[in-house]
Amino acid sequence: MLRRLHKNQPDSFAFTEANLAWAEKQIAKYPEGRAASAIIPLLWRAQEQEGWLSRPAIETVCGMLGLANIRGMEVATFYFMFQLHPVGDIAHIQVCGTTSCMICGAEDLMAVCKQKIAANAHERSPDGKLSWEEVECLGACSNAPMAQIGKDYYEDLTAESFAQIIDELYAGKVPVPGSRNGRFASEPKSGLTSLTEHGENRQAANMSVTLATEKGDSIARITEG
Ligand code: FES
Repeated sequence: MLRRLHKNQPDSFAFTEANLAWAEKQIAKYPEGRAASAIIPLLWRAQEQEGWLSRPAIETVCGMLGLANIRGMEVATFYFMFQLHPVGDIAHIQVCGTTSCMICGAEDLMAVCKQKIAANAHERSPDGKLSWEEVECLGACSNAPMAQIGKDYYEDLTAESFAQIIDELYAGKVPVPGSRNGRFASEPKSGLTSLTEHGENRQAANMSVTLATEKGDSIARITEG
């Protein structure tokens, strides 16, 4: 897939005050003359702030690190985790399309994206709220099929449960992450076969889901350092 900067670019980019302070702290972690090593965290924070990486954002980061702009372009266009096109204002949905998820129904999930968001990956929905793409294995194969939305994983999905998640996002809600078939984590679908003595006393949701729910920042842009 060709990874090119988007044809429409904003005039400028600036870190928020909090993010600028955060970025300067990252740069200070590296020895003098090695500031280039901070390029990925800084590009990532720029993306967390804006949702995607524009040319001005990449050039701003390069300027902070004393790098030629082409060095930032090389990094941003190489790594798929960097979005080079505007994403949905609310969220960008990443559907895993690798083997386990594909066998378990990833194509059904992508059909939902095409129907509810946009016909093609990396396009925004007509109202600009959501966008989607297919990604490679996200390491939750035992809970296939799954999708990452913001910072969280939504697992054991069906076309119906996934469509409901998308509807919640459109409605301005933050859907609770985690399994959609009642599994606590990645235990067998038929139930625990070991450590069963803890089964009755465990908390309502696993720690990942609990933290995501408590923090509530799953799909929020980061503007605070
Ligand atoms: S194949 Fe989808 S998470 Fe690994």
